[in-house]
Amino acid sequence: MAMHSGRQVVNIALIGFMGTGKTSVGRLVADHLDFDFLDTDDVIQTQQGLTVTEIFSTHGEPAFRKLEQKMVGELAARTKTVIATGGGLPTYPENLASLKTHALVVCLWASPEKIWERVKSQTHRPLLHDPDPKTKIRELLARREPFYKQADVLINTELRSVREVMQQVVYQFRLESDSG
Ligand code: S3P
Repeated sequence: MAMHSGRQVVNIALIGFMGTGKTSVGRLVADHLDFDFLDTDDVIQTQQGLTVTEIFSTHGEPAFRKLEQKMVGELAARTKTVIATGGGLPTYPENLASLKTHALVVCLWASPEKIWERVKSQTHRPLLHDPDPKTKIRELLARREPFYKQADVLINTELRSVREVMQQVVYQFRLESDSG
């Protein structure tokens, strides 16, 4: 079992801004390691029977954050799982601290320009339903950067394919396992 500063690292948690590839990379990593894959947004949507956009519009963002927090508590019971987290989840310090007790926390990084390129054709993210989404991305990313940078590993996804990012994640996880 992998130990990381006294922790038991049995899972992988992917954190990072919307559009950094957490879900696509996470699925590939899970396939490669023969781990389960779980996306916190998907689990919340299934549990609530509502889309993330509907939860935001009907109950408000704070209600969504509470559901995320509850979900994070449940994740501690998992093993051999790759967890793709919603972009705002690790900006609550207790969520990040909880993930670190059982998972190698890997942040996928991209510039605001690259993120915009990746998300502009998608409509399922309520925080980007904004008159000026490019500015919103820049501001939100700047505000969140200090949280994202608390990950164990930071991977720049700008010049890497999804497959290359997956290989980096697997490599970093194996380093942890070998040192454990
Ligand atoms: C959010 C990111 C979304 C989703 C929700 C809020 C955020 O997840 O949780 O729309 O606060 O950045 P993705 O990062 O998977 O798009």
